[in-house]
Amino acid sequence: MCGIVGYTGEQAALPILLEALKRLEYRGYDSAGVVVLDGELTLHKAKGEIRELENVLPDLPGTLGIGHTRWATHGAPSQHNAHPFVDCTGKLALAHNGIIENYGVHKEALLAKGHKFTSETDTEVVLHLVEDAYEGNLEEALRAVLSRIEGAYAFALTHADEPRKLVVARRDSPLVLGLGTGENLFASDVPALLRTTSKVLYLMDGELAVLTPEEVRIQAPDGSAVDRKPEVVTWDVEDAERGGFPHFMLKEIFEQPEVIHATLLGRLSDFENLEILRGADRVQLVACGTSYHAALVGKYILEEIAGIPASAELASEYRYAARSDGKPLVVCISQSGETADTIGAAREAKRRGSRTLAVTNYVDSSLTREVDESLYTRAGLEIGVAATKTFTAQLVALYILALRLGILRGTLTPDEARKWTEEIRALPRAVQAVVDNAPAIEALAREFSQVRDMFFIGRNVNFPMAMEGAHKMKEISYVHAEGYAAGELKHGALALITKETPVVALLPQDHTYQKMIGNVGEVSARGAPVVAIGYEGDEELEKYVDATIRVPWVRSIYSPVVNVVALQLLAYYTARERGCSIDKPRNLAKTVTVE
Ligand code: G6P
Repeated sequence: MCGIVGYTGEQAALPILLEALKRLEYRGYDSAGVVVLDGELTLHKAKGEIRELENVLPDLPGTLGIGHTRWATHGAPSQHNAHPFVDCTGKLALAHNGIIENYGVHKEALLAKGHKFTSETDTEVVLHLVEDAYEGNLEEALRAVLSRIEGAYAFALTHADEPRKLVVARRDSPLVLGLGTGENLFASDVPALLRTTSKVLYLMDGELAVLTPEEVRIQAPDGSAVDRKPEVVTWDVEDAERGGFPHFMLKEIFEQPEVIHATLLGRLSDFENLEILRGADRVQLVACGTSYHAALVGKYILEEIAGIPASAELASEYRYAARSDGKPLVVCISQSGETADTIGAAREAKRRGSRTLAVTNYVDSSLTREVDESLYTRAGLEIGVAATKTFTAQLVALYILALRLGILRGTLTPDEARKWTEEIRALPRAVQAVVDNAPAIEALAREFSQVRDMFFIGRNVNFPMAMEGAHKMKEISYVHAEGYAAGELKHGALALITKETPVVALLPQDHTYQKMIGNVGEVSARGAPVVAIGYEGDEELEKYVDATIRVPWVRSIYSPVVNVVALQLLAYYTARERGCSIDKPRNLAKTVTVE
């Protein structure tokens, strides 16, 4: 995720752009830039947060400008990779939020034509393509280029020869237009507009818009005019930052379809080289907290999809264990990339002669500097202390890793790889169905919100999900909860099961189903109310349990992705019912930099 903003009107553009960028910082803050037009374009960029940019900015008088705050995907965070970009003529500027998948082919052709690139980004190819296509009308030039690019984007452009005009277009990345009087603007999200106006127009996928101080024109993909009525936003700025949700955690849960899509983008059709995977014959996954639960799922994913032996270990334990297992590939999973235990484990793995790979959400984190290679999730900034969208993004990264390993090792035929890939592509839609079911989960949470203890049970790939469900419940609602491998209950914890201890059972219809039904019987025989998370269309389920949360059918190995979203919602609504401080739970920190 990145944030973009643009203004055209009568006021000085720069203060408006900077204020708006600060409201978008949640979308990324590794570098930022602005371009202001006052006869000619003036460009300023800086690595780091918006205030780093502010520190280097002179006063710029222009009344039109574009700003960008970046969350790096292609090209490291740096001043030269920061947006916007200005073309070879010095007259055209462009900023982008998204990923251009086919930038490689275009880049070669543009270099051959003599275009000068100033960055390693995928974005810059679009700038030079528009430069080539430009014949005095910016929207026409952009439209011609859009048909040649693949990927996700929200683009913002301006040209010095059309000095009052901004052109924007979007596909799979958000963009909202703000309508003022004698001024118009746009941004990736509503909060960035609210200082100037509350009158907004949402740009839809495939649409392009032209903004001048006097008017806003929207065009459909075929170039025809779109007539859309503006909406008036009634949120204040604080509400708007949470997207109208009462908590960041809920907003972040709802962002998961977009995040899964973003993390997959460009990685299924074109398997980027991860050189480090070559020759790997065993994988050790190391992490803490919620990321450790991703590591536990990762073991099942790697073994099932890639047929490679894998194990998962807590980072804080990894360092102190004696080793007799040679030099496996060590995959360190950490959303922040700053967790001291995980960084320590990466160092230890290197000391033992292992190759190391990070799965993280931060391109310039300490962990990425410690390891040999990194695979980035693209979840954007997560503000809620309890990890949600970064976790599902980690699972998606692990599926990608397993597919690459499977192809590399020859354990997956191209046909099999295609089948797995198609099913992964369906995950954003499946997750959308789970979040759409939030009201039913909320009603259920109300029923169980006053309990003291809860149990979560699952088998196989859903055993770690039972642990994560309990973990989320403990973290934010302070209900004592335990996640158990369903088959293990009878070896001890069954002694604690009574009618006062609700049990949440993860029940996908897979090879563990019958055994899970048996375990459900064991707990209901002791009077425990059972809530099942099961597939839509599983008619059997109601016979065995007291309540059900339905999730769409996905292959068993993918079921953690849909199940965890239901578990997150259950924990969230329970915590809300109990009046807990959801985004900042007591005693916990988002990132733990001590061992
Ligand atoms: C902290 C957070 C957890 C998180 C863990 C690992 O304890 O409160 O939510 O799962 O750190 O964080 P990481 O950034 O390494 O994924």
